[in-house]
Amino acid sequence: MIFNRKIVWQKLPKPLFVLAPMEAVTDTVFRRVVIKAGRPDLFFTEFTNVEGWNSEGKKVVGRRLSFTRSEKPLIAQVWGSNPDNLEKMSKALKKMGFDGIDLNMGCPVKTATKHASGSAMILHPELAAEMIQAAKAGGLPVSVKTRLGYSKVDEWEGWITHLLRQNIDALTIHARTKKEMSKVPAHHELFSDIVKLRDKVAPRTLIIGNGDIMTRKHGEELVKKHNLDGVMIGRGIFQNITCFREDPLDLSLPESKKELLELLNCHLDLFEEEVRLNPQKKFDPLKRFFKVYIRDFDGASDLRVKLMNCKTVEEVKSELSNHRHYD
Ligand SMILES: Cc1cc2nc3c(=O)[nH]c(=O)nc-3n(C[C@H](O)[C@H](O)[C@H](O)COP(=O)(O)O)c2cc1C
Repeated sequence: MIFNRKIVWQKLPKPLFVLAPMEAVTDTVFRRVVIKAGRPDLFFTEFTNVEGWNSEGKKVVGRRLSFTRSEKPLIAQVWGSNPDNLEKMSKALKKMGFDGIDLNMGCPVKTATKHASGSAMILHPELAAEMIQAAKAGGLPVSVKTRLGYSKVDEWEGWITHLLRQNIDALTIHARTKKEMSKVPAHHELFSDIVKLRDKVAPRTLIIGNGDIMTRKHGEELVKKHNLDGVMIGRGIFQNITCFREDPLDLSLPESKKELLELLNCHLDLFEEEVRLNPQKKFDPLKRFFKVYIRDFDGASDLRVKLMNCKTVEEVKSELSNHRHYD
């Protein structure tokens, strides 16, 4: 498949399997490991602050937007509340070669909500509409990722109707309210009604379901049951990094260990490559990935403890090669 600057969401495979944007997780390094493990149809960047990008800190903020061609099609996810800044950024994102721009209107974290951005956009629908218009300035396809409502589930109809009226390419629904955070099961039962609403208000807009979808198989069932255009998987990738494959690894089988360790080594190599380009990249955040690869097999928890005590990539590699000698 060849993608020009401007992908048309409608031309992507159906159903669409998407890796969720996740702060400090879905950077260029992890996206490339996921490609090796079993690629989704579409990637998003971690969310990037529009105001930060338009400030003196632009260079630092902009590092989260680095990518390689292999990760395309790739959508840049942004958050903020200043339409003028977003207009400038959307033009730059197009020049940088992104395939789309996604507006985060679901983040429950205070840093975002206190500035009327993230999930607080639900409380400011007129500003949300202005932001969508501003995002269109660059000529990229525009999508939104949001929640059902701010405090109550029954806000969904008004809020989603409003978004669908803005002529967007795709809408990802994390099927919980902001208030629910991730503490209750996602309300999958609402997906069918949301799709029916879309059919009435904006038939061209794709609906992507999100929340508690851990495997491709579960995603396929939900697509079929609710007529969704696709699903987005977030935390499922932590439980099984091969979750986008038709035939994912069974991590309870001893033979899966070899592949998991190879993927960890690939992650370490790509991380080192990235540090050469961006020497500020810190080692410690890398540790959160160890549980993705070092799990389920005999001796996994002992090995994980050893890796968590490492201070450099070289130390991690050396622990891994010691471990191999005792296999
Ligand atoms: C570590 C982490 C970081 C996240 N960062 C983002 C983000 O940058 N942008 C965003 O829209 N959602 C973010 N989310 C929310 C996920 O994209 C997703 O909507 C949520 O986890 C529910 O999907 P899941 O049950 O498949 O994980 C994050 C979630 C996690 C666990």
